[in-house]
Amino acid sequence: DLPLLFDCDTGIDDSLALLYLLAHPEVDLRAVVSTAGNVPVDVVTANNLAWLGLCGRDDIPVHTGSEQPLAAPLRTTEDTHGPLGVGYADLPATTSTASRDTAADAWIALSERYSGELVGLVTGPTTNLALAIRQDPALPSRLRRLVIMGGVFYHPGNTSPTTEWNVAVDPEAAHEVLTAFGTGGAPAPVLCPLDLTETIVMTPDHLARLAAAADSTPVETPSPVDDPGTRSVADNPVVAALTDAIRFYFEFHAAHDEGYIAHMHDPFAAAVALDPSIVRTRPACVDVELDGTLTRGTTVADERGMWGRPPNAEIATRTDPDAFFDDLVTTVARLAAA
Ligand code: BDR
Ligand code: CA
Repeated sequence: DLPLLFDCDTGIDDSLALLYLLAHPEVDLRAVVSTAGNVPVDVVTANNLAWLGLCGRDDIPVHTGSEQPLAAPLRTTEDTHGPLGVGYADLPATTSTASRDTAADAWIALSERYSGELVGLVTGPTTNLALAIRQDPALPSRLRRLVIMGGVFYHPGNTSPTTEWNVAVDPEAAHEVLTAFGTGGAPAPVLCPLDLTETIVMTPDHLARLAAAADSTPVETPSPVDDPGTRSVADNPVVAALTDAIRFYFEFHAAHDEGYIAHMHDPFAAAVALDPSIVRTRPACVDVELDGTLTRGTTVADERGMWGRPPNAEIATRTDPDAFFDDLVTTVARLAAA
C-alpha cells in the first residue's frame, strides 16, 4: 500500500478527494493535514475530522496547519464552497480532535518514517509544506512522489485573470516549494493545473451512478438553480452528505454560467497521486510571480530552458476524464457501501 499524506483546504472537491483516498484499496492514508484556504484552517480541520468520523476512520490523525499564508493576508472563498466549506452538507458532530503535532511536523515525521516511499498530495495552498521545507530542507528528497493541484498556464485563471486559487492564496509558499525541487535528486512534483482540472467535469449523472453503485436510494437529479439547496434523498449517510456538498458546487458553477456541473480539481489530483500514468506530463521549470500588480500569484513555466534552471516540475497536460470518473464512482461507492 502507498503511504500517503493528504494536505488540503476542505473544501467541497477536497472532501471528495478525501473520500476517494479512504475508499481506495491501495492507499495507506497516514495523515490528513489542514491548510487555510477555501475556509479558515480551524474549519478545514473540523471538516476533515467530521468526514473521517462519518466514514468510521477516526484512527487517521488530522493535523492543523498555519492560520495564515506565509506573507499574504488570508483570503477564503465561502461563495464557492459554502459557509463551512462543505456546501449544504450537515456533517455529524465528532468528538475526535486534531493531533498536537502541527501540519509541518507531520510532513517531516512521515517523510522520515516512510523515507523514499511517502506520497504527498496537496490540494490547497502549499503553506504547510513550505514551512516544513524551511525546517527541513532535505524533506523533498525523502518523498517518493509529490502531486500538487495548483497553477494555471495557458487558460484563464479562476482567482484573477492569470492565477489559480491554491497558488494565489499563498504565492510565497508555492514559490518556496517549487524552488526546493529541481536539484538535489528530489523527484519533480506533478502539477495538476487548472488548464487540465477544468476538463474534469462532474455532472449529476455521476452522482446518480455513485448512489446506485453504493446501493443507496437513487439520488434525485439535483435541483436546478431555481430551486437551490434541496436536501439529498439518499439513505446512505456518506452518499447523502457528499450529494449535499456537491449540489452547492453545481449551483456555484451554474451561477458562473458554466452549466450545472462541477470541476473536480482535487479528486483528480488524488487519482494522479495514486497513479501518475493517468496523465501525460511535460517537464518545465516553474516559478511564481511574487510582485506584479496584475500578475502576483501567476505560475510561469519556462519550457525552453531560457532561465538556465533545470526542470522542477512535471506539468500534467492530458488525461482521459471518462476513465477517471469510472474509477472515482466505483471506488467511492465501495466506501459508501461499507
Ligand atoms: C482549487 O481551488 C479550491 O477552491 C479547490 O478546492 C481546488 O483545490 C482549484 O483552483
Ligand atoms: Ca482544495
